[in-house]
Amino acid sequence: MRILVVGKGGREHALVRALAESPSSPELFCYPGSDAIFEIAKPVAADGLESLVAWMTLNSIDLCVAGEESYLVKGEGLANLCERHGIPCWGPPKESAQLEASKEFAKNFLLRNQIPTARAAATDTLEEALAAIAGEYPTVLKFDGLAAGKGVAVCPDAAAALSFLDEVFIQRRFGPGRVLVEQCLTGPEVSIFAAIIDDEYLIFVPARDYKRAHDGDLGPNTGGMGAVASRQLISAELLAQIEQEIVKPTVQGLRREGLPYRGFLYFGLMLTPTGPQVIEYNCRFGDPECQAVMPLVEGDLAAFCLAGAQGRLRADLLTFSESWSVCVILASAGYPDSSRNGDEISGLPAVTQARVYHSGTHLNEAGKWETYGGRVLAVVAGADTRADAVTQAHAAADLVTFAGLQRRRDIGILNF
Ligand code: AMP
Ligand code: GLY
Repeated sequence: MRILVVGKGGREHALVRALAESPSSPELFCYPGSDAIFEIAKPVAADGLESLVAWMTLNSIDLCVAGEESYLVKGEGLANLCERHGIPCWGPPKESAQLEASKEFAKNFLLRNQIPTARAAATDTLEEALAAIAGEYPTVLKFDGLAAGKGVAVCPDAAAALSFLDEVFIQRRFGPGRVLVEQCLTGPEVSIFAAIIDDEYLIFVPARDYKRAHDGDLGPNTGGMGAVASRQLISAELLAQIEQEIVKPTVQGLRREGLPYRGFLYFGLMLTPTGPQVIEYNCRFGDPECQAVMPLVEGDLAAFCLAGAQGRLRADLLTFSESWSVCVILASAGYPDSSRNGDEISGLPAVTQARVYHSGTHLNEAGKWETYGGRVLAVVAGADTRADAVTQAHAAADLVTFAGLQRRRDIGILNF
């Protein structure tokens, strides 16, 4: 089996590793990939989606796995192009990926399908947004498009709201687009991942990510500074409620509305006092949740994804460990406002009791790893208890250093 994974971050490194460890032993390729990924997958000579799909055809690729969301909605869409060329793709077509690409589309889908979610109004101008907020703070403002994780502002007061609306409508920081004014929900967050194949689904291990930059869940929002994953993270009753009220109606809604789906779907949920509600959908695995979850997935992920892309849910190919997994992100100087490349990383060979996935690294001319992006590495350890997984992940993370390294010390510990 020949598999091509699309993406280049820590999530894709974890996916490629999990596919490489599959008993079906696939031959792996990755585009655009990274130096670390190219240690286990071969690079692809392509320049853009059209040439990538042509390359897949020429090289008899059996399965394309979409890691990163942007390719799903670029141009014709990765999955759409694959379908046109007869290549099975694990990842949804462009029309279905609007669930992630457009917050307004997702909100309307949720409302039409009576799936619990926050009230919201779509607005076109700063004045309209202020009218929709109607002086009610805190409020949540969401730019209606892909904004690399920067498109959401939880605003405690009018000053914060005005500053975000100024960025969107006056400075046009994210380009043209509307803003969703959303009711602010409260409660712990949880990320649920399901493999969806037409009208069937399989729920993976739940995870929680740590979005803020600093300990105590303070500081600016980031792409995620770490994650904890376990089947025991939430109760079986709560998971059953999430399945009945959220996952099942989502899958039925996709079918009813003619939105094809074969791939991972990420449900970003808030466990509010009145029950779980959907904050967002992502048409892919989470990053860094994927790095925490993949070590808990046992079986043949490669065969599972190929069967899924061909329309068969082969739940028998996978089992999920009952243990715990903790992922600590090491970020570069300046993150999340900026990032710094070129800081040499030391200590990696000392990590023997944990997995290290590369999110943003580069091999320099001297053959040494150096920082190459905001989130640099994900250090992941697993154990039977949460406490042991926490201890092991942080102890392994302690072994790795580079100038300007930033990390949280409460990943896996802080329970919110
Ligand atoms: P998103 O980019 O949609 O994941 O949002 C980023 C973060 O903003 C979420 O993880 C939440 O912490 C927060 N958030 C989004 N929507 C709401 C909401 N309606 N109420 C409270 N917090 C929210
Ligand atoms: N961890 C959040 C995300 O992948 O969007």
